[in-house]
Amino acid sequence: MALAAAKASGSNNANTNNLNMSTSMHGTNGSGSGHNSSALNGSSSQGNQGSQSNQGNQPNTGSQGAHNAHSNQGSQGHQGTPRKSTNNDSDLRTDEEVYMWVTDLVYSNNSDDSLSMLGKKREQFKDLGVVLWNSYGVMPIILQEIVKVYPLLSPPQLPVNNSNRVSNALQLLQCIASHHETQIPFLNSHMLLYLYPFLNTTSSSRPYEYLRLTSLGVIGALVKNDSPQVVTFLLSTEIIPLCLRIIETTSGISKTLALYIVLRILQDDQGLIYVCQTYERFFAVNQVLTIVVNQLVQQPQDSSLRLLKHVVMCYRRLADDERAKHSLREILPEALRNGTFTPLLREEQGTKKILNQLILSINQEM
Ligand code: TRP
Repeated sequence: MALAAAKASGSNNANTNNLNMSTSMHGTNGSGSGHNSSALNGSSSQGNQGSQSNQGNQPNTGSQGAHNAHSNQGSQGHQGTPRKSTNNDSDLRTDEEVYMWVTDLVYSNNSDDSLSMLGKKREQFKDLGVVLWNSYGVMPIILQEIVKVYPLLSPPQLPVNNSNRVSNALQLLQCIASHHETQIPFLNSHMLLYLYPFLNTTSSSRPYEYLRLTSLGVIGALVKNDSPQVVTFLLSTEIIPLCLRIIETTSGISKTLALYIVLRILQDDQGLIYVCQTYERFFAVNQVLTIVVNQLVQQPQDSSLRLLKHVVMCYRRLADDERAKHSLREILPEALRNGTFTPLLREEQGTKKILNQLILSINQEM
C-alpha cells in the first residue's frame, strides 16, 4: 500500500479543487488531471464501453437534470450525434455532489452515507474511478473499510450492516478497476489482494454471498477489457482455484460471475497455456465445469442459460489446446453431446453453434 500512502502524502491541500490532483505519480494522461466538468465529460466517452452516457447531449433540464441523467443511462440514442456543449446543469450538479461526498468521505468520521452515495453516482459520473483514485485520502479509507471486517470473517460473524458497508467500498473499487485510466495503476498497487480473504469465505449466508459477489465484481471489471497484464497478475495470485471453488460451492450470481472470470482468463492465450500446462489443472477445470453441467441437468434455474453459455465457451476454448482437445474426446460431459440442452438453446443459436463446433472439433481425426 505504499502507493496509496505516498499518494496521500503527496497532496495535503484539502479543498475540493485539488481532489483529483497528483496524477503525475500514476502516469495518468492529461485528460485525468483536468477536473473541471468539461474535461470530465469530454474524456468520459473513451473508457466506458457498453454504457454510453448522454451527458454531453442532455437537454438542459434545470434542477431535474441529475435525475434525468440517471434515468437515461443505458439509452444509446445519441451515439451518432457529435458531442456539442459538454457543460450543462445536470453535469455540474453531479460534479458538485461527487466532490461534496468525496470531501465528506475523507473529512467526516461517519463515512457510511458518503460511501453509498458515491456508489450511487457511478452511473452518471463516468470518471468517478479517476476522481476516487486521485483524491487525497480516499484509497486509505477504502482499504480501512476492507480490513476492518477481517476479524469477523472467521468464524463467520459478519452482520448484514457491515457487509453492506464494505460492499459499498468494493463498488467504488470496481469503478477504479473498470476505468481505463486507473485500471493499470490499480493493478500495480496490488490492492486487489486485500479482497482475496473475502473470496476465500465459504459461508452461504447473505452477508458473505454479497461480499463475494462485490469482490468478484472488481475482478470482473478488470478482466472485461482484454489486457494480458491483468491476466498475468491474476494468474500469479492463483485466482483460478479460488474461482473454481466458488463456482462449485455457491449458487446465484457469484457462481455465474466466477465462471465468467475463468472464461475471460481462458480466452487469453497465456491463460489457456496456464490451465493446460498440467493435467491436474486441466482436470480440475473440467471437473468443475462438469459439476455445473450436472447441476443444470438436475435443477434448471433462472441463470441456467447464462451458465450453460459460459460452460460451452470454456470447453470450446479449451479445445484450442491439442492435448486438452484429445482429452475432451473422452471426458466432455455426456449431456453436452446428446442434445439434452437443445430445448434450452433454441433461442440461443450463437451458443448452439459454438457447441456444435466444439463437438465437431473434438471428433476430428488428429
Ligand atoms: N498452485 C496450483 C497449480 O499451479 C493452483 C491450482 C490449483 C490450479 N488448482 C488449480 C490452477 C486448477 C489451475 C487450475 O496447479
